[in-house]
Amino acid sequence: MLIFSILCLLFFMGNTFVLTRGCDTGWFGDKCQYKCHCESTCDISGDCVDNKCSPGWFGYKCQYRDLVHLSKNNINKNRGNIDTKTCIELDSNNDNITLQWDDLYVFTWLRIALGQEISELITDLQILFRRDINKTVSYVPCQNKLFYVIKPQTIDVRCDFNGTFKELVLKGKTIQWICTLNINGGRNVALKQNTTQSGTYTDRSHTEEYSNSSNAVDGKALYSFKEKSCAHPYSGNRKQFWSVKFPHRVVTGYVLYDRQDGAENLNGFKLTASTGNEIQFEYIDEKLKLPKRIYTIPHPHKSPVSNVTIYRDGTLNVCEVEVYGECPPGTWGLNCSQCTAQCPHNCQVDDGSCEILCPGFSNPPFCNQTCDSGWFGDGCKYKCHCEDKCDTSGYCTNNMCSDGWFGYKCQYRDLMYLVSLEANRVIFDNNDDTCITSKPDSIILRWNEAYVFTWLRIVVKNETFITDLKIQFQKNEKQSTQFLACQNQRLYLVDSKTMDIWCDLNDTFHQLTLTGKAILSLCTLNVNGGRNVALKQNTSQSGTYSSARSKEDAAQSSNAVDGKLDAKYFTFKEKSCAHTAVGDKNPFWSVQFLPHLITEYVLYDRRDHKVENLIGFTLTTFPKTDKSFYFKDKNVAVEKKIYRLLDPRKNIVSNVTITRKNYLNICEVEIYGECPTGTWGLACTNCSQDCPNECHVEDGRCVNLCLGFTNPPSCDQPCEKTEYGINCTKHCSDNCTNNECDSQTGECLECSGNGTYSGTCDKRCDNSYWGEFCNESCSLNCANQTCDQETGDCYGGCNEGYKPPDCMELLIKRSEVRCPHQKPTIHGMTDIDITPPVSSKCATPLVTTSSSLLQILHLNVQSYSNKSLELADTITDDSYDIAFLSETWFEKSEMSQEPLS
Ligand SMILES: *[C@@H]1O[C@H](CO)[C@@H](O)[C@H](O)[C@H]1NC(C)=O
Ligand SMILES: *[C@@H]1O[C@H](CO)[C@@H](O)[C@H](O)[C@H]1NC(C)=O
Ligand SMILES: *[C@@H]1O[C@H](CO)[C@@H](O)[C@H](O)[C@H]1NC(C)=O
Ligand SMILES: *[C@@H]1O[C@H](CO)[C@@H](O)[C@H](O)[C@H]1NC(C)=O
Ligand SMILES: *[C@@H]1O[C@H](CO)[C@@H](O)[C@H](O)[C@H]1NC(C)=O
Ligand SMILES: *[C@@H]1O[C@H](CO)[C@@H](O)[C@H](O)[C@H]1NC(C)=O
Ligand SMILES: *[C@@H]1O[C@H](CO)[C@@H](O)[C@H](O)[C@H]1NC(C)=O
Ligand SMILES: *[C@@H]1O[C@H](CO)[C@@H](O)[C@H](O)[C@H]1NC(C)=O
Repeated sequence: MLIFSILCLLFFMGNTFVLTRGCDTGWFGDKCQYKCHCESTCDISGDCVDNKCSPGWFGYKCQYRDLVHLSKNNINKNRGNIDTKTCIELDSNNDNITLQWDDLYVFTWLRIALGQEISELITDLQILFRRDINKTVSYVPCQNKLFYVIKPQTIDVRCDFNGTFKELVLKGKTIQWICTLNINGGRNVALKQNTTQSGTYTDRSHTEEYSNSSNAVDGKALYSFKEKSCAHPYSGNRKQFWSVKFPHRVVTGYVLYDRQDGAENLNGFKLTASTGNEIQFEYIDEKLKLPKRIYTIPHPHKSPVSNVTIYRDGTLNVCEVEVYGECPPGTWGLNCSQCTAQCPHNCQVDDGSCEILCPGFSNPPFCNQTCDSGWFGDGCKYKCHCEDKCDTSGYCTNNMCSDGWFGYKCQYRDLMYLVSLEANRVIFDNNDDTCITSKPDSIILRWNEAYVFTWLRIVVKNETFITDLKIQFQKNEKQSTQFLACQNQRLYLVDSKTMDIWCDLNDTFHQLTLTGKAILSLCTLNVNGGRNVALKQNTSQSGTYSSARSKEDAAQSSNAVDGKLDAKYFTFKEKSCAHTAVGDKNPFWSVQFLPHLITEYVLYDRRDHKVENLIGFTLTTFPKTDKSFYFKDKNVAVEKKIYRLLDPRKNIVSNVTITRKNYLNICEVEIYGECPTGTWGLACTNCSQDCPNECHVEDGRCVNLCLGFTNPPSCDQPCEKTEYGINCTKHCSDNCTNNECDSQTGECLECSGNGTYSGTCDKRCDNSYWGEFCNESCSLNCANQTCDQETGDCYGGCNEGYKPPDCMELLIKRSEVRCPHQKPTIHGMTDIDITPPVSSKCATPLVTTSSSLLQILHLNVQSYSNKSLELADTITDDSYDIAFLSETWFEKSEMSQEPLS
C-alpha cells in the first residue's frame, strides 16, 4: 500500500505530460510529436482505447520498438502486449529462449511479463549475446543486471552490454514463467524534431513541400517522392546533407528509408551522430551494386547524441530517418524527467519509481555499491558456496559447488558431506559424470549425529530405472534398529537423469538405506540439510555491549548472522559475535526472517573466553503454536561450544529469540530450513495456481511424477488395478493373474503361471536356474545342465547315477557300500564320522543335508587320507551327512539309515 501511494505521488510530481487536443489523427503529445502505435486508436493522451499496442510496439503509450517482433523467431503469441495468460511454451528439455536477427542491434533493457508474481528469484535471469550466429563466436553475458518492478507481474531488466548482437539468449529457472517478452529497441527520438538540409529541391512540377527536410521525420517511412514524404536537399553539385536535431538522447540505432520509387539515392551515404560539435559516431555505408531500400545501423556504446546528419556525394533522397534511443541515465518517461533523489541513478522508465532489485549490489535502490566478495544477490544476502567464484547472481563460474553444498546456486547444505560411514566416493564428489560401477544391493549411509530429513536428490546415469528407489531410515546408529519408511513419498523429475524425493519423516535419523535399481547407476546423491535462513537477516538485542576499548559494532546483534564460521571469528576481537549490554535485566537476542519450515538450530559460543556464555540459554520460536519448538538448556557447566537443536516436527518459524539470565554472547546462529509447502525458491515464492499446495523447491514446477497415481500434480487418483508406475502409464504384465499388479512396483499380485517367475512374472530364468526368484540352480547333474523354470526338472534327463526328474538325488545301492571308517576333520564340522575309502573305488565323497543331497565333492582320495578335508564355502549348514561311494549307487531313500560312523 505504501509503495503504491509513493508510486502515485511520483506519478503526479514527475509526469509533466500535457494533454493536447487538435493533433492529426494518429498523433498525440504537447507538440503532437508522438505517433500512435495502438492496435485500434489512441485517445488524446496516447493511451490505447483497447489497451493493445500494434504489432512491433510495446510499453508506455506503445512508444517502444519491440525487437522481439523483428526477430526471426518471434515468440510472443500476443504480439508483444503484456499478457500473463498466454505464455511462452518451452520444450521441457529446452533450458533457454533464443532469438536471432538478420541485422545487428544494441541492448538497453527488456521487459518480461510473468505468469506469477515477481519475486527475488527473477534475478536468476541470465542474458547472453552473440555478434554472429556462428559456432566459433562465443556468448557474452550481460553484466550488472538491475530489475525494475513495473507491476506485480511485470519487470524490466537492464544490464551492461556495449556491443552489438544478432542473437540473444535468456537462461535461468524463471524463463519458464515468461508469458510475454519485449526487447526494447528504443523510441524514435527523431520524429517531428527540427531538421535542416543543404537547400531544398524544386522543379517545375514540384514545390518545396515535396522535398522539405521535415518530410524525413514525418513518421511515414515507406513512401515515394510524389507523396510529399521524402526529404530532398539540393545544393547544386556540392555535397548534400540532411540533419535532425533533438534533445540529448542515448542513441542505439538508426533506420534509413530510401525512396520506394525511382532511382536509389542513399547508397554509399555517410552518417554522423554528435553532441554539439563533438562527433560521437560515424558510419560510412559500403556502396553496394544491389542497393538496399532500408538501412538498419546499430550504434554501439550508447553515447549521448543530439544531432544526426546524413551526407552524400551527388543526389540525396531520404524518405524517413528513424533514430532509436533512450532517455539518458537518471531520467525517465517520454520527456526524460529527472529521477528523484530516492534513486537518482536508476529509476523505472515508465513512472520514475524506485522499486528496484539489484543483485550484486548491497544498497538498493541506489545500487551503486557492490557486494563484498563471497556474497551475492539482492542486498548481498546470499553466501557464495561455489568451488571457484560466484557471479553477481550466484552462479558458479566453473559450475561446481564447494564441498558440503549443492543445488540451486549451491544454497542447500549437503548432509552427504557429513556422513561418517564412508560411502562410495563417486556419489558425493559433486561430479555427475562419475557413477557407481559396482552393483551394490544397497547403499547405507550413517551419521555420527542425528539429522532431520526433508528431501534428497539423485543423479543417475541410466534413466530407465530412476524411479526404482526405496528409501528407509533408522533412528539409531545400530544396524539392528527398526527401519522407518519414506512416508508420503513425492517425486520431482528435475531433468531426465535427476530426481528429488521427499519423505514425511517426522523423527530424526542416523542412518539411511537406499535400495532399488536406481542405485546401480547412481552418479550423485545429495541429502538436503536445508538452507541457512538466518543469514544476514534482521536482528536485534536487548542492548549492546560497549566499553572504552570496544565500540558497539564489535558486539552488535547482526554479528551473529554474518556467516563467518571460521573458528577465528568465534573470538570477541574479530567483531563477529553479538554481545548484550552489561547490566541488562532480561537480555535477549533475536532474528526475524521469512516464514520457513525449520529443521535445525546451531548456536556457536565464543572460544576465546573460559566462561561459558551460553549455558542455560532458552531458545523460543515464533509464531507460537501448541507444538512450537522451544528449548531450554540444562544449566550444567559442561564445556560445549556448539549447540545443535533439532526440530523433526519442522515447525514454521519466522522469529527466533534467545534469552539468558545474565548476558548473552553469541558468535553465530545458523537456522536451517526449507520454504513452507506451497512455496519455492530462495525467497519462498508461492507455487502457481496449477499446484498451489506443492511445487518443486528450485523452480516452482508442479509435481510431474505420481508413482501409483494418475494425475500430477495432485497425485490422488490411484491407478486402475491393471496399471502401475509413474502416472499409471504402464500396464501390468499379461503374466499377472487378471493383469493385476502393485500400482507402484508393477509386481504381480499373483503369477498367472505361464512358466514365468519373479515379481512381475515376466522373467524367464537363465537356462541353468529355476524357481520363483530364479535363484535355484538346475542340478549339476542335468544332462545338459538346463531345467524347467517352474519345477527344476532337467531337460534331457540326468547324468548317470542321478534320479530323474530333477537329478538332484543319487541312486544309491546299500549293498555295495564298502568303505572302511576313518575320521577326517572337516571345516566347520567336528562331530561327524566319515568312512574313508579302502580302495580307489571309494572315489567320490557325497555331502548331503539331512533332508536333501546338496553337493558332490570331488575328492582326491589319496590326499584325503593325509589331509583334512575343506568343504566349499557355500556349504554352511551344520547338519551334514557325508558318505563315500563306490562306483555303484545307492537308493537315497535308504541313505538315512546307512550307518556312517
Ligand atoms: C539453447 O537451447 C538449445 C536447444 O536445447 C541448445 O541447442 C543451445 O545450445 C542452447 N543455447 C545456450 C546458449 O545454452
Ligand atoms: C564465423 O565467425 C568467424 C569470426 O567472426 C569467421 O571468421 C568465420 O568465417 C565465420 N564462419 C562462418 C561459417 O560463418
Ligand atoms: C560500457 O561502456 C561504458 C562507457 O564507455 C563503460 O563505462 C562500461 O564499463 C562498459 N560496459 C561494459 C560491460 O563493457
Ligand atoms: C525547432 O525549431 C523551432 C522553430 O524554428 C524552434 O522554435 C525550436 O526551438 C527548435 N527546437 C529545437 C529543439 O531546436
Ligand atoms: C549537426 O552536426 C553537424 C556536424 O557535427 C553540423 O554540421 C550541423 O550543423 C549540426 N546541425 C544542427 C542543426 O545543429
Ligand atoms: C551511491 O549513490 C549515492 C546517491 O547518489 C551517493 O550518495 C553515494 O556516494 C554513492 N555510493 C557509491 C559507493 O558510489
Ligand atoms: C539402461 O538400462 C536398460 C535396461 O537395462 C538398457 O536397456 C539400456 O540400454 C540402458 N541405457 C543406457 C544408456 O545404458
Ligand atoms: C509421526 O507421524 C505419524 C503419522 O502421522 C504419527 O503417528 C507419529 O506420532 C508421528 N511421530 C512423531 C515423533 O511426531
